Amino acid sequence: MRIATLSLNPAIDQTARIPSFTAGRVNRVEWEQSDAGGKGVNVASFLADAGIQVAATGLFGSGNIEPFLELFSRKGIDDRCVRLAGRTRVNVKIADPVLDQVTDINFPGLSPAAADLVRLTKTLDQLLAKIDWLVLSGSVPAGIPDTIYAELIDQLQARGKQVLLDASGAPFAEAVTHGPDIIKPNIDELAELVGRPLTGPAEVLDAAMSLIDSGIRLVAVSMGPDGAVFVEGDAAVHAIPPTIQVKSTVGAGDAMVAGILTGTARGLDLADRARLATAFSLGALGEVGPHLPPMSVIDDFATRVQIKTLK
Ligand SMILES: Nc1ncnc2c1ncn2[C@@H]1O[C@H](COP(=O)(O)OP(=O)(O)OP(=O)(O)O)[C@@H](O)[C@H]1O
Ligand SMILES: [Mg+2]
Repeated sequence: MRIATLSLNPAIDQTARIPSFTAGRVNRVEWEQSDAGGKGVNVASFLADAGIQVAATGLFGSGNIEPFLELFSRKGIDDRCVRLAGRTRVNVKIADPVLDQVTDINFPGLSPAAADLVRLTKTLDQLLAKIDWLVLSGSVPAGIPDTIYAELIDQLQARGKQVLLDASGAPFAEAVTHGPDIIKPNIDELAELVGRPLTGPAEVLDAAMSLIDSGIRLVAVSMGPDGAVFVEGDAAVHAIPPTIQVKSTVGAGDAMVAGILTGTARGLDLADRARLATAFSLGALGEVGPHLPPMSVIDDFATRVQIKTLK
Protein backbone atom coordinates (compact mmCIF):
# COMPACT_ATOMS: atom_id res chain seq x y z
CA MET A 1 0.00 0.00 0.00
CA ARG A 2 1.56 3.30 -1.08
CA ILE A 3 0.51 6.41 0.78
CA ALA A 4 1.06 10.16 0.41
CA THR A 5 0.06 12.94 2.77
CA LEU A 6 -0.91 16.46 1.73
CA SER A 7 0.00 19.47 3.89
CA LEU A 8 -1.59 22.67 2.60
CA ASN A 9 -0.69 24.55 5.78
CA PRO A 10 2.28 22.87 7.50
CA ALA A 11 3.93 24.29 10.60
CA ILE A 12 7.05 24.14 12.67
CA ASP A 13 6.00 23.25 16.21
CA GLN A 14 8.11 25.07 18.75
CA THR A 15 7.60 23.72 22.26
CA ALA A 16 8.85 25.91 25.14
CA ARG A 17 8.74 24.66 28.74
CA ILE A 18 7.85 27.54 31.08
CA PRO A 19 7.03 26.61 34.70
CA SER A 20 4.13 28.76 36.04
CA PHE A 21 3.63 30.55 32.70
CA THR A 22 1.92 33.90 33.31
CA ALA A 23 0.37 36.11 30.61
CA GLY A 24 1.38 39.77 30.83
CA ARG A 25 4.76 38.96 32.46
CA VAL A 26 8.29 38.15 31.33
CA ASN A 27 8.48 34.32 31.21
CA ARG A 28 11.78 32.40 31.09
CA VAL A 29 12.02 29.34 28.85
CA GLU A 30 13.55 26.40 30.75
CA TRP A 31 13.84 24.08 27.70
CA GLU A 32 12.76 24.25 24.08
CA GLN A 33 12.42 21.99 21.07
CA SER A 34 11.51 22.67 17.44
CA ASP A 35 9.85 20.01 15.29
CA ALA A 36 8.75 19.93 11.67
CA GLY A 37 5.01 19.47 11.95
CA GLY A 38 1.52 20.10 10.70
CA LYS A 39 -0.94 17.23 10.46
CA GLY A 40 0.16 15.85 7.09
CA VAL A 41 3.84 15.88 8.04
CA ASN A 42 3.02 14.24 11.38
CA VAL A 43 1.07 11.43 9.70
CA ALA A 44 3.94 10.84 7.24
CA SER A 45 6.45 10.78 10.09
CA PHE A 46 4.43 8.26 12.13
CA LEU A 47 3.88 6.04 9.06
CA ALA A 48 7.61 6.06 8.33
CA ASP A 49 8.28 5.03 11.96
CA ALA A 50 5.93 2.10 11.37
CA GLY A 51 7.95 1.06 8.32
CA ILE A 52 5.31 2.15 5.79
CA GLN A 53 6.50 3.78 2.55
CA VAL A 54 5.17 7.31 2.40
CA ALA A 55 5.52 10.51 0.37
CA ALA A 56 4.88 14.01 1.70
CA THR A 57 3.59 16.80 -0.48
CA GLY A 58 2.13 20.23 0.18
CA LEU A 59 3.04 23.90 0.31
CA PHE A 60 6.23 24.67 2.25
CA GLY A 61 7.99 28.01 2.75
CA SER A 62 11.52 27.82 1.31
CA GLY A 63 12.83 30.25 3.96
CA ASN A 64 12.78 27.65 6.76
CA ILE A 65 12.34 24.32 4.99
CA GLU A 66 15.44 22.67 6.57
CA PRO A 67 13.68 20.96 9.52
CA PHE A 68 11.23 19.33 7.07
CA LEU A 69 13.99 18.16 4.72
CA GLU A 70 15.98 16.84 7.66
CA LEU A 71 12.96 14.87 8.93
CA PHE A 72 12.16 13.49 5.46
CA SER A 73 15.71 12.35 4.77
CA ARG A 74 16.18 10.89 8.27
CA LYS A 75 13.00 8.82 8.00
CA GLY A 76 13.13 7.98 4.29
CA ILE A 77 10.01 9.99 3.47
CA ASP A 78 9.70 10.77 -0.27
CA ASP A 79 10.00 14.60 -0.50
CA ARG A 80 7.40 15.96 -2.94
CA CYS A 81 7.17 19.42 -1.36
CA VAL A 82 6.21 22.44 -3.42
CA ARG A 83 8.42 25.33 -2.26
CA LEU A 84 6.86 28.76 -1.77
CA ALA A 85 8.58 32.11 -1.29
CA GLY A 86 8.56 33.01 2.42
CA ARG A 87 8.61 31.01 5.64
CA THR A 88 6.38 28.23 6.95
CA ARG A 89 4.52 29.37 10.08
CA VAL A 90 5.85 28.54 13.53
CA ASN A 91 3.26 27.32 16.05
CA VAL A 92 4.32 27.99 19.62
CA LYS A 93 3.31 25.58 22.38
CA ILE A 94 3.98 26.75 25.89
CA ALA A 95 4.14 23.71 28.13
CA ASP A 96 3.72 24.52 31.80
CA PRO A 97 4.71 21.56 34.02
CA VAL A 98 3.54 23.31 37.21
CA LEU A 99 -0.02 24.15 36.13
CA ASP A 100 0.02 21.03 33.89
CA GLN A 101 -1.35 22.88 30.87
CA VAL A 102 -0.32 23.72 27.32
CA THR A 103 -0.99 27.12 25.71
CA ASP A 104 -1.07 27.10 21.90
CA ILE A 105 -0.27 30.13 19.74
CA ASN A 106 -1.04 29.25 16.10
CA PHE A 107 -0.02 31.65 13.33
CA PRO A 108 -2.07 31.87 10.11
CA GLY A 109 0.66 30.73 7.71
CA LEU A 110 1.59 31.54 4.12
CA SER A 111 -0.99 32.54 1.51
CA PRO A 112 -0.12 30.64 -1.68
CA ALA A 113 -0.29 32.43 -5.03
CA ALA A 114 -2.13 31.05 -8.07
CA ALA A 115 1.18 29.90 -9.60
CA ASP A 116 1.96 27.90 -6.42
CA LEU A 117 -1.34 26.07 -6.75
CA VAL A 118 -0.59 25.22 -10.37
CA ARG A 119 2.72 23.69 -9.25
CA LEU A 120 0.94 21.77 -6.48
CA THR A 121 -1.61 20.38 -8.96
CA LYS A 122 1.23 19.18 -11.23
CA THR A 123 3.08 17.60 -8.32
CA LEU A 124 -0.06 15.83 -7.11
CA ASP A 125 -0.81 14.63 -10.59
CA GLN A 126 2.61 12.94 -10.87
CA LEU A 127 2.37 11.55 -7.36
CA LEU A 128 -1.06 10.03 -7.94
CA ALA A 129 0.38 7.64 -10.50
CA LYS A 130 2.44 6.09 -7.68
CA ILE A 131 0.07 5.89 -4.73
CA ASP A 132 -3.05 4.06 -3.52
CA TRP A 133 -4.01 6.40 -0.66
CA LEU A 134 -3.89 10.15 -0.12
CA VAL A 135 -4.24 11.56 3.38
CA LEU A 136 -5.94 14.98 3.39
CA SER A 137 -5.44 16.52 6.78
CA GLY A 138 -5.21 19.83 8.52
CA SER A 139 -6.29 23.39 7.90
CA VAL A 140 -6.57 25.19 4.59
CA PRO A 141 -4.52 28.41 4.22
CA ALA A 142 -5.97 31.78 3.21
CA GLY A 143 -6.44 32.03 -0.55
CA ILE A 144 -7.50 28.40 -1.06
CA PRO A 145 -11.27 27.80 -1.13
CA ASP A 146 -13.00 25.70 1.53
CA THR A 147 -14.10 23.31 -1.24
CA ILE A 148 -10.51 22.16 -1.90
CA TYR A 149 -10.79 18.80 -0.10
CA ALA A 150 -14.19 18.11 -1.72
CA GLU A 151 -12.73 18.78 -5.18
CA LEU A 152 -9.66 16.66 -4.49
CA ILE A 153 -11.81 13.74 -3.31
CA ASP A 154 -13.79 13.84 -6.58
CA GLN A 155 -10.56 13.83 -8.62
CA LEU A 156 -9.00 11.08 -6.54
CA GLN A 157 -12.05 8.87 -6.81
CA ALA A 158 -12.15 9.37 -10.57
CA ARG A 159 -8.59 7.95 -10.62
CA GLY A 160 -9.45 5.03 -8.34
CA LYS A 161 -7.51 6.34 -5.32
CA GLN A 162 -8.58 6.04 -1.70
CA VAL A 163 -8.79 9.01 0.66
CA LEU A 164 -8.47 9.50 4.39
CA LEU A 165 -9.83 12.88 5.47
CA ASP A 166 -8.94 14.50 8.83
CA ALA A 167 -10.09 18.11 8.72
CA SER A 168 -12.38 20.44 10.59
CA GLY A 169 -14.80 23.33 10.04
CA ALA A 170 -15.94 24.32 6.56
CA PRO A 171 -13.39 22.30 4.50
CA PHE A 172 -14.43 19.17 6.45
CA ALA A 173 -18.17 19.85 6.08
CA GLU A 174 -17.80 20.52 2.35
CA ALA A 175 -15.79 17.33 1.76
CA VAL A 176 -17.61 14.82 3.93
CA THR A 177 -20.56 14.51 1.52
CA HIS A 178 -18.17 13.58 -1.31
CA GLY A 179 -17.57 10.14 0.18
CA PRO A 180 -14.00 9.95 1.50
CA ASP A 181 -13.14 6.33 2.39
CA ILE A 182 -12.11 7.06 5.98
CA ILE A 183 -12.60 10.08 8.26
CA LYS A 184 -11.12 10.71 11.74
CA PRO A 185 -12.81 13.68 13.39
CA ASN A 186 -12.40 14.23 17.10
CA ILE A 187 -15.60 14.50 19.14
CA ASP A 188 -15.71 18.32 18.87
CA GLU A 189 -15.20 18.26 15.09
CA LEU A 190 -17.98 15.67 14.73
CA ALA A 191 -20.31 17.68 17.00
CA GLU A 192 -19.72 20.77 14.87
CA LEU A 193 -20.40 18.77 11.72
CA VAL A 194 -23.70 17.28 12.91
CA GLY A 195 -24.71 20.55 14.60
CA ARG A 196 -25.42 19.20 18.08
CA PRO A 197 -23.36 18.61 21.21
CA LEU A 198 -22.15 15.02 21.68
CA THR A 199 -21.48 13.50 25.06
CA GLY A 200 -20.26 9.94 25.42
CA PRO A 201 -19.82 6.95 23.10
CA ALA A 202 -23.56 6.28 22.52
CA GLU A 203 -24.21 9.74 21.05
CA VAL A 204 -20.94 9.58 19.10
CA LEU A 205 -21.98 6.20 17.68
CA ASP A 206 -25.33 7.60 16.50
CA ALA A 207 -23.69 10.57 14.79
CA ALA A 208 -20.96 8.41 13.23
CA MET A 209 -23.52 5.93 11.88
CA SER A 210 -25.36 8.72 10.08
CA LEU A 211 -22.11 9.41 8.17
CA ILE A 212 -21.58 5.74 7.28
CA ASP A 213 -25.00 5.95 5.61
CA SER A 214 -23.64 8.77 3.42
CA GLY A 215 -21.01 6.49 1.84
CA ILE A 216 -17.96 6.70 4.12
CA ARG A 217 -16.54 3.25 4.91
CA LEU A 218 -14.85 3.88 8.24
CA VAL A 219 -15.55 6.62 10.76
CA ALA A 220 -13.11 6.90 13.67
CA VAL A 221 -14.07 9.47 16.29
CA SER A 222 -11.38 10.23 18.84
CA MET A 223 -12.36 11.46 22.30
CA GLY A 224 -9.04 12.29 23.97
CA PRO A 225 -8.45 10.22 27.15
CA ASP A 226 -11.89 8.58 26.66
CA GLY A 227 -10.53 6.72 23.64
CA ALA A 228 -12.18 6.44 20.24
CA VAL A 229 -15.27 4.99 18.59
CA PHE A 230 -14.68 3.13 15.30
CA VAL A 231 -17.64 2.44 13.00
CA GLU A 232 -17.38 0.36 9.83
CA GLY A 233 -20.43 -0.89 7.95
CA ASP A 234 -22.80 -2.07 10.66
CA ALA A 235 -20.06 -2.91 13.19
CA ALA A 236 -18.77 -0.56 15.89
CA VAL A 237 -16.23 -0.72 18.72
CA HIS A 238 -15.05 1.61 21.46
CA ALA A 239 -11.27 1.46 22.03
CA ILE A 240 -10.42 2.53 25.58
CA PRO A 241 -6.77 3.45 26.28
CA PRO A 242 -4.99 2.62 29.54
CA THR A 243 -4.03 5.54 31.81
CA ILE A 244 -0.59 6.73 30.77
CA GLN A 245 1.92 9.48 31.50
CA VAL A 246 1.43 12.12 28.76
CA LYS A 247 4.57 13.95 27.61
CA SER A 248 2.96 15.92 24.77
CA THR A 249 -0.52 15.75 23.21
CA VAL A 250 0.85 17.04 19.87
CA GLY A 251 -0.16 14.68 17.09
CA ALA A 252 -2.17 12.13 19.11
CA GLY A 253 -4.90 12.31 16.47
CA ASP A 254 -2.38 12.22 13.61
CA ALA A 255 -0.81 9.10 15.10
CA MET A 256 -4.28 7.53 15.17
CA VAL A 257 -4.62 8.30 11.45
CA ALA A 258 -1.26 6.61 10.79
CA GLY A 259 -2.31 3.65 12.96
CA ILE A 260 -5.59 3.20 11.05
CA LEU A 261 -3.69 3.11 7.74
CA THR A 262 -1.03 0.76 9.12
CA GLY A 263 -3.79 -1.55 10.35
CA THR A 264 -5.44 -1.35 6.92
CA ALA A 265 -2.12 -2.18 5.21
CA ARG A 266 -1.80 -5.20 7.53
CA GLY A 267 -5.36 -6.32 6.70
CA LEU A 268 -6.51 -6.23 10.35
CA ASP A 269 -10.16 -6.53 11.33
CA LEU A 270 -12.00 -3.59 12.91
CA ALA A 271 -11.19 -4.42 16.55
CA ASP A 272 -7.48 -4.96 15.86
CA ARG A 273 -7.27 -1.79 13.73
CA ALA A 274 -8.88 0.15 16.60
CA ARG A 275 -6.37 -1.42 19.02
CA LEU A 276 -3.37 -0.59 16.82
CA ALA A 277 -4.58 2.95 16.03
CA THR A 278 -5.00 3.65 19.75
CA ALA A 279 -1.56 2.19 20.46
CA PHE A 280 -0.05 4.58 17.88
CA SER A 281 -1.71 7.50 19.73
CA LEU A 282 -0.37 6.24 23.04
CA GLY A 283 3.09 6.03 21.48
CA ALA A 284 2.86 9.63 20.24
CA LEU A 285 1.69 10.88 23.65
CA GLY A 286 4.95 9.64 25.17
CA GLU A 287 7.17 11.58 22.73
CA VAL A 288 7.74 15.27 22.00
CA GLY A 289 7.44 15.74 18.23
CA PRO A 290 5.83 13.40 15.67
CA HIS A 291 7.71 10.25 16.60
CA LEU A 292 6.75 6.74 17.71
CA PRO A 293 8.66 4.58 20.17
CA PRO A 294 9.91 1.20 18.82
CA MET A 295 7.16 -1.05 17.40
CA SER A 296 7.67 -3.47 20.32
CA VAL A 297 6.42 -0.70 22.64
CA ILE A 298 3.45 -0.01 20.30
CA ASP A 299 2.59 -3.73 20.28
CA ASP A 300 2.69 -3.73 24.09
CA PHE A 301 0.37 -0.69 24.22
CA ALA A 302 -2.00 -2.50 21.83
CA THR A 303 -2.41 -5.37 24.31
CA ARG A 304 -3.39 -2.83 26.99
CA VAL A 305 -6.18 -1.22 24.92
CA GLN A 306 -9.64 -2.39 25.97
CA ILE A 307 -12.09 -3.06 23.12
CA LYS A 308 -15.82 -2.81 23.80
CA THR A 309 -18.15 -4.01 21.08
CA LEU A 310 -20.89 -1.43 20.58
CA LYS A 311 -22.66 -3.06 17.63
N1 LIG B 1 -4.69 11.79 27.95
C1 LIG B 1 -4.81 10.70 27.18
N2 LIG B 1 -4.66 9.47 27.74
C2 LIG B 1 -4.77 8.35 27.00
N3 LIG B 1 -5.03 8.35 25.69
C3 LIG B 1 -5.21 9.54 25.08
C4 LIG B 1 -5.10 10.77 25.79
N4 LIG B 1 -5.30 11.78 24.92
C5 LIG B 1 -5.51 11.20 23.70
N5 LIG B 1 -5.45 9.85 23.81
C6 LIG B 1 -5.57 8.88 22.71
O1 LIG B 1 -5.27 9.54 21.50
C7 LIG B 1 -6.39 9.47 20.60
C8 LIG B 1 -6.47 10.75 19.79
O2 LIG B 1 -6.54 11.87 20.66
P1 LIG B 1 -7.49 13.12 20.43
O3 LIG B 1 -8.91 12.70 20.49
O4 LIG B 1 -7.05 14.15 21.41
O5 LIG B 1 -7.13 13.52 18.94
P2 LIG B 1 -7.26 14.93 18.19
O6 LIG B 1 -8.16 15.84 18.94
O7 LIG B 1 -7.60 14.63 16.78
O8 LIG B 1 -5.77 15.43 18.28
P3 LIG B 1 -4.87 16.28 17.25
O9 LIG B 1 -4.53 17.51 18.01
O10 LIG B 1 -3.68 15.43 16.97
O11 LIG B 1 -5.69 16.54 16.02
C9 LIG B 1 -7.59 9.22 21.51
O12 LIG B 1 -8.61 8.56 20.80
C10 LIG B 1 -6.98 8.33 22.60
O13 LIG B 1 -6.92 6.99 22.17
MG1 LIG C 1 -7.29 15.87 15.07
